[in-house]
Amino acid sequence: MAKKLFIRTHGCQMNKYDSSRMADLLRESHDMELTENTEEADVLLLNTCSIREKAQNKIYHQLGRWKNLKKKKPNLLIGVGGCVASQEGDIIRKRAKHVDMIFGPQTLHKLPDMINSAVEHIPVTDVTFPEIEKFDHLPTPHVESAEAFVSVMEGCSKYCTFCVVPYTRGEEVSRPFDSILVEVIQLAEQGVREVHLLGQNVNAYRGETDEGDEADLADIIHAVAQIDGIERIRFTTSHPIEFTDSLIETFRTEPKLVSHLHLPVQSGSDSVLSAMKRGHDRQYYIDKINLIRQARPNISLSSDFIIGFPGETNDCFIDTMNLIQEIGFDHSFSFIYSQRPGTPAASLEDATPEKLKKERLAILQSRISQQSFDISLAMIGEIQRILINGYSPRNPGQLQGRTENNRIVSFSASDPQLIGKFADVVITDAYTNSLLGELINSELDTNFVLH
Ligand code: SAH
Ligand code: F3S
Repeated sequence: MAKKLFIRTHGCQMNKYDSSRMADLLRESHDMELTENTEEADVLLLNTCSIREKAQNKIYHQLGRWKNLKKKKPNLLIGVGGCVASQEGDIIRKRAKHVDMIFGPQTLHKLPDMINSAVEHIPVTDVTFPEIEKFDHLPTPHVESAEAFVSVMEGCSKYCTFCVVPYTRGEEVSRPFDSILVEVIQLAEQGVREVHLLGQNVNAYRGETDEGDEADLADIIHAVAQIDGIERIRFTTSHPIEFTDSLIETFRTEPKLVSHLHLPVQSGSDSVLSAMKRGHDRQYYIDKINLIRQARPNISLSSDFIIGFPGETNDCFIDTMNLIQEIGFDHSFSFIYSQRPGTPAASLEDATPEKLKKERLAILQSRISQQSFDISLAMIGEIQRILINGYSPRNPGQLQGRTENNRIVSFSASDPQLIGKFADVVITDAYTNSLLGELINSELDTNFVLH
């Protein structure tokens, strides 16, 4: 009987992508099948996140629970990967002796060998950054959905003063251009219609083609758009720096690129942006957005914000609130600043009381939710193109799909042949986190035009 693998993933989309590749790898090397049930698993993997303190603390609670499972089943193997593993390495085993394998985001391709050692009761730790060899060792991806992630670059060389990513995932390294296209072709052959290109700094992509030329993210987008079956392209996470003219131009020329962009700004205050070493000021961000809007007037914009960075005054916060209104951001991610060991900002004096930071965060989140809801309300009556991804979990008589601006629309229909197909729906109602619609037509109809 096939051995069972359980993976718990914390953190960002890069981690989700890495977890799916771990499953592909162990399916091929050890004939392992994924399970949702820890009790029946033979191998438990925890893919960790260290972006904020809270995320980091979650891992020892989890490992504590898994220790009890190992008491009942001594052959159970436990592995810890991701950014906490990368930062702490063997220290994890000091607090959790029952961990057999410790690996980083760049060494997950060594999991098959690590499992072989662990079976022989030899614990392994490998959190090195061996260039980008991981992609040379990963098998054909296996997907069951019409949407898939594809990592195009790893790491970050921007060293924002608050951020651990450059230390946990290493410097920016780009995958070879042609290997990305091969992966997308393999995905398209399995029914994937929407590709989400990923990187911690995805627009820093500078990869080599088989002919030895340098390609950038705009080149990937154009090449992916030519692949049969691929009708939608997204990319995250971009940085305002390196958002080049050629990338902006792609919004004008490539209809398969969605009208949605996640572009983290972190703060609307020049002094905070400078202390964060983001490499640009408020006006630079506004100018970029204006250029992007000229290329794609109806684009929906989302962002990341950090509240309570050391030195953030009330005026700084007001600058951020004004920027949110000026840009008209849609649904965004915002967190209170978390001091991360080893980062330059960790030594800055932080005089803002926690209570005030929480108040600021609540004000910001309520404004963003309001703006996002206003955008949803304005969609009522509009015809939206969605990619249908399955049945609505709450209502089995409904299917659901995603709009370009990342909203889930449910609508009455039950034909399973619609799953994985594009359709047009008219929006009839808006809720806080989703929309209701009515099906107009779909790819199953002969007169449906894709682009
Ligand atoms: N490459 C992206 C960010 C990746 S990290 C960029 O260009 O900004 C994802 C998000 O986590 C960041 O955008 C930031 O908002 C948040 N984050 C990172 N470090 C943090 C910290 N120390 N405290 C709070 N939030 C943090
Ligand atoms: Fe982190 Fe800044 Fe890079 S937020 S991921 S160091 S761009």
